[in-house]
Amino acid sequence: MFLDFAMFAFGLPLAIYLLHQTITVSADLGVHNAPDLYQKGGWGDAPYQRYFSDPEIWSPVFDVPIWNRSAISTEGTPHILMSLEYESRMGPYIFSSDDLSLVYSNRSFPFVNNVRVQKYRGENVLTFWEGMQGKGHAQGHCVALNRHYEVVFNVTSSSYFSANADLHECEVTKDNTVLLTIYESTPGYDLSSVGGKENDILLDSCFEEINPENKEVWFSWRASWFFHPTASYHAYEPETNDGWDAWHINSLQKTKEGHYVVDMRRAHTVVLINGTDGWPIWNLGGKGNEFEDLSGGQATAFAWQHHTRFLDEDLTQLTMFDNRQLEWERSLGCSGAGCSRGLRLELTHSPKKTVKLVAEHLAPVGLGCYAMGSHDALSNGNSLIGWGSQAGFSEYGPDGDPILDVAFGRYNTYARTYRVFKDAWVGLPKWEPKVALDAVSGNVMLSWNGATEVVSWVVMVANKRETLVSFDSLNQADQSATVHALKKGFETSVAVGGALDRFKYVRAAALDVNGTMLGATDIVNVADGNGIKVASQPDDCK
Ligand SMILES: *[C@@H]1O[C@H](CO)[C@@H](O)[C@H](O)[C@H]1NC(C)=O
Ligand SMILES: *[C@@H]1O[C@H](CO)[C@@H](O)[C@H](O)[C@H]1NC(C)=O
Ligand SMILES: *[C@@H]1O[C@H](CO)[C@@H](O)[C@H](O)[C@H]1NC(C)=O
Ligand SMILES: *[C@@H]1O[C@H](CO)[C@@H](O)[C@H](O)[C@H]1NC(C)=O
Ligand SMILES: *[C@@H]1O[C@H](CO)[C@@H](O)[C@H](O)[C@H]1NC(C)=O
Repeated sequence: MFLDFAMFAFGLPLAIYLLHQTITVSADLGVHNAPDLYQKGGWGDAPYQRYFSDPEIWSPVFDVPIWNRSAISTEGTPHILMSLEYESRMGPYIFSSDDLSLVYSNRSFPFVNNVRVQKYRGENVLTFWEGMQGKGHAQGHCVALNRHYEVVFNVTSSSYFSANADLHECEVTKDNTVLLTIYESTPGYDLSSVGGKENDILLDSCFEEINPENKEVWFSWRASWFFHPTASYHAYEPETNDGWDAWHINSLQKTKEGHYVVDMRRAHTVVLINGTDGWPIWNLGGKGNEFEDLSGGQATAFAWQHHTRFLDEDLTQLTMFDNRQLEWERSLGCSGAGCSRGLRLELTHSPKKTVKLVAEHLAPVGLGCYAMGSHDALSNGNSLIGWGSQAGFSEYGPDGDPILDVAFGRYNTYARTYRVFKDAWVGLPKWEPKVALDAVSGNVMLSWNGATEVVSWVVMVANKRETLVSFDSLNQADQSATVHALKKGFETSVAVGGALDRFKYVRAAALDVNGTMLGATDIVNVADGNGIKVASQPDDCK
């Protein structure tokens, strides 16, 4: 049925000037700007909303105390990407950076991490890790989806390792290979130097570069071959199931020379690993620091850090998320060195190795984040900081002013996300848009999960089902009740002037900026309720 419609209509601009324009509203709950009440739990620990037309979806209701719309980065129609968890189900989430409304969610995974857009073979792909979460590490797969949300690759570590790909990294390189972290349980390892047993278990920090298409391994590396456990700042813990996690790798980047920038959180170290022999070329921070700190200790004082990225091929501009502390007590309303920060450093490599602090971004409310976190340096000079174990993210202008501050849950609760990114994304889903009729308002509710190019909707009504099957429906449908409505937010609520009382069938088409039809909903039978989702916002939707 959908296909019939498609054959006639795809690619043809509809004569939308014939239609009645209606003023539309969004059915979304919108955002709060009430940080005191929000953080006191007025709407729960992780406030969410659900939708009439797509009841599978749960999405956050944000609190947005700072939002300077003229200053936030808009280059390339960016979207905000992250993973979120509701009721033990997790998924990738995409939001419009214009109005922060939901664009895409798929809450069908046990665990998802590190959602972002990367370039693979010249195409923008949506990448994330999915699998089973362990304690601070995990086993699963790195997945890439194309603009139709179809799987482009799904890759894990090679059989060279006894564990599958861990959740911390899924980085596509310029060679169209993927960098994966792997946490490998290694029995029979001597940990006596850090207070453990001679015959102990080490949780080794490993990584691999692999071609996701033919699974060819380009490089494999184990920290235990090149590092001593005494490099760790993390106190030895006996009897940890998979072993003691000495170094805790959490980010990887390949350089143009074919070396690897490796972040080792528990060693407070960023290390450049030689892509030929695996030995460190240099260490920044930690016990083996080789860089002179030109900022009085501020540049090398990072600790428990995440998401280390060089912005240039010469490895001089470095950004990271500096967690800086592991404590809960000082974590909210903190100040000074107790706070986590987005950190930007400048390095020189010759004639001398030096490092200096260029910028630091503290959370507007003062946050210490014991785990996770991200630093996305945006192309216009802005910085997007994800607060990791604290449920928020903030954007800063080039001069360091906070211009956006968003909470997606209460701080100091389980609400969290590993990394937050701002990337351009075009989504053209293969599934149809969805429609529901709201019995209370008499409005037609429309949404299309994942579709980024919809600008408006045409809602058609008729008394004969056949009328709405083909493209001709626009001429045959009762013009007096056919409505053209601008899309608003994730779910658009279209007033149809009581048409649901007068007509038997409803169908809606989604149009792009040029009035070209991108897809159409099912035909809904108003009278017998067939296909109708008469919904009201669920009680728990607060
Ligand atoms: C928003 O940002 C712009 C550019 O940085 C700045 O000039 C303006 O003062 C800011 N507005 C507010 C209300 O902070
Ligand atoms: C969600 O992900 C599952 C598992 O990959 C897939 O089968 C399903 O089609 C996806 N749905 C959407 C709306 O993306
Ligand atoms: C990736 O592959 C694994 C192993 O075959 C599978 O369990 C998982 O569902 C796949 N993920 C997606 C999104 O297709
Ligand atoms: C990387 O390792 C190779 C092989 O040991 C060595 O020839 C090369 O000089 C090393 N590169 C650097 C930058 O240390
Ligand atoms: C809309 O039309 C303009 C002018 O023909 C064209 O440049 C643009 O690519 C079209 N946009 C879409 C989304 O088709």
